[in-house]
Amino acid sequence: MTYAAITGWGKCMPPATLTNEDLSKFLDTNDEWIVSRTGMKERRVSHVSATEMAVIAAKRALACAGIEGGQVDLIIYGSCSNDEQVPNCASGVQVAIGATKAASMDLNTACTSFLYSLTAATAMIRTGVAKTAIVIGVELISPFMDWDNRNVAVLFGDGCAAVVLQATDKQEGILGEELGCLADARQTLRVRGMGTAYTNRGVTSGDTEWDFDGQEIFKRAVQGMVQASQAVMKKCGVTPDDIDLVVPHQANLRIIDAVVSRSGIPMEKVMLTVQRYGNMSAATVPVALAESLEEGRMKPGALVLMPAFGAGLTVCAHLVRWGDRVTPLALSDAELPPVKKSALDMVQDIRARKHRDTSKAGLHGLTFIEQM
Ligand code: ACO
Repeated sequence: MTYAAITGWGKCMPPATLTNEDLSKFLDTNDEWIVSRTGMKERRVSHVSATEMAVIAAKRALACAGIEGGQVDLIIYGSCSNDEQVPNCASGVQVAIGATKAASMDLNTACTSFLYSLTAATAMIRTGVAKTAIVIGVELISPFMDWDNRNVAVLFGDGCAAVVLQATDKQEGILGEELGCLADARQTLRVRGMGTAYTNRGVTSGDTEWDFDGQEIFKRAVQGMVQASQAVMKKCGVTPDDIDLVVPHQANLRIIDAVVSRSGIPMEKVMLTVQRYGNMSAATVPVALAESLEEGRMKPGALVLMPAFGAGLTVCAHLVRWGDRVTPLALSDAELPPVKKSALDMVQDIRARKHRDTSKAGLHGLTFIEQM
């Protein structure tokens, strides 16, 4: 049987940091509320495009695995905030890393995009379609955030990480996964303004409003991730005691707490980044994975549980067996260009652009969308 081992990892975090105090300068919010309701202290705002972050992360993951771009035969770019729709973003990464013989595709299931991409790449490796893949989780949320809506503006951040998968006959990489979509709750999270339904009506990119039912998402996310985690553990014949590390989607500390405690796993086994990066959607799991390696929390042969949810509402839980190696084979010298503005200044620029465009004519009244 062929498996798809994770042999390289690399993250790319934009340096500009937006604190809770920064947010309270233009929103009716405060550090105490944000920390007690979400666990978040700060998040990042990117000064570069999502593809640029993805290229740096991919180069670092390649160096870590000790391979060149030319050896990659599949790139999957997991994201819901693509810089462009046509051409796809994976092809941009392909050019930058010299992966001339790779197939390249974008995959969007919102916050679960990285894990769904991991499933897709693993399946293609198992069936012989590819031998070596790069899977990216990247999100550039700041340009389409509704910065004047405190219900959502405090929750999200930008970031990226990538992994390399390589075919092996050792039992490594994904051992099992559970994927699903609670589509009856798809109305609970919608970004109005992204997509042709809106651009057809003259809506400018970035002129977005978020429909966001936080309490309903919270409830469904916890139920969905607990069920998916229990199902994948049962399918693979493992118990909560067998899990060495949990690398969950980082949408809210209280959600993570509820999921692991209901799954019978202690919080000490959980890798957390939510306090410093907020919810980076598709990037949260791979960034947390990369940091678990950087911090020495990933042990050789570890059994890792990765539960996640996203808009849709997509849900999943993956069980991964780590290999023997927990250190990079080499380091890449790829770096982002320096940032010239503070995170707060970049956010204020986005807000000013949005306020200049007062036409919101196309954001509501799309009954064909609202009924689905
Ligand atoms: N600062 C201060 N007060 C706020 C803020 C804020 N940033 N946001 C909301 N409030 C207020 C509300 O207006 C409300 O006031 P009211 O009682 O006067 O009406 C009060 O705080 C309580 O709001 P609740 O909704 O009850 O707060 P809750 O404890 O449910 O926490 C939260 C809200 C953090 C959004 C929580 O519901 C949550 O995390 N939900 C899941 C969100 C999520 O994970 N989204 C990601 C979706 S998928 C993906 O990852 C892309």
